[in-house]
Amino acid sequence: VQAGPLRHFLQFRDFSHDEILYVLERARLIKDKFKRYQPHHTLHDRTLAMVFEKASTRTRVSFEAGMYQLGGSVIHLTTTDSQLGRSEPIEDTARVVSRMVDIVMIRTFEQTRLERFASHSRVPVINGLTNEFHPCQILADIFTFIEHRGDIKGKTVAWIGDANNMAYTWLQAAEILGFTLHVSAPNGYHLESDRTGNPDSSILREFDDPLEACKGAHLVTTDVWTSMGYEDENEERRKAFADWCVDQEMMDVADPSALFMHCLPAHRGEEVTGEVIDGPQSVVWDEAENRLHVQKALMEFLILGRQQA
Ligand code: CP
Ligand code: NVA
Repeated sequence: VQAGPLRHFLQFRDFSHDEILYVLERARLIKDKFKRYQPHHTLHDRTLAMVFEKASTRTRVSFEAGMYQLGGSVIHLTTTDSQLGRSEPIEDTARVVSRMVDIVMIRTFEQTRLERFASHSRVPVINGLTNEFHPCQILADIFTFIEHRGDIKGKTVAWIGDANNMAYTWLQAAEILGFTLHVSAPNGYHLESDRTGNPDSSILREFDDPLEACKGAHLVTTDVWTSMGYEDENEERRKAFADWCVDQEMMDVADPSALFMHCLPAHRGEEVTGEVIDGPQSVVWDEAENRLHVQKALMEFLILGRQQA
């Protein structure tokens, strides 16, 4: 049962600037209450169904713990233990599951598969990662940046490595929130212009040299060289990305206040050195924890709309 019109969060730009800021502010309140052990049961009696067609640690634990903490309950489905693995159409799964629960989170392969689910769902659908986007992670990353450094507007974020689902979501966030994204990826792994459009250089700048991309950045961030679903390319990617390991030299040319983020899981010695990810500029553990708080705010917003207190 919905409080207002049916809304989904399938990509970052599904929300307006004001809606993103509302969810982040609400996450602040929810996190503060959580830290004081104050209950916040705004989703009492509501049910979340989670559908995982790829592996997960953070997304599963944060959505599952988050829904319980909001007073609701959770159903966990995977491809192998549901009829999805025996070719039940995603549209039929959406029709059935969404008659029984209040909200659905899906992690899957193509964005179009998520969209097909959403277009047959009676309840809000959240993208828990697709090949194309990872919007919940970027919500948490921006919340973490604001928590440590204040407003992200006008700042510079350097994305080093694969122009993957995270990179495209960062670009949508830059367009909505008004910061600059520097991207450095090896040949063959760049952002695709048919997906990026033609953003102004105040929003997107691309660099061949990762060190150049890091210069003056307020946040340096990276991700695995081989995302889930691309495992066949692992060996060729390891060779192609060898010079795109975030190291202390890159952090040293960034702004002195620069933070390091990684959505995790990480491979020390591949996309980032141990010195950087375990060093003083890294906020990766806050970043992971903040998935919990922002997704509680997100589920609350999608089911109940804006709350007064
Ligand atoms: N960052 C992230 O989404 O982690 P999981 O794959 O463990 O969910
Ligand atoms: N880009 C990675 C993120 C994992 C959380 C992947 O899609 O596998």
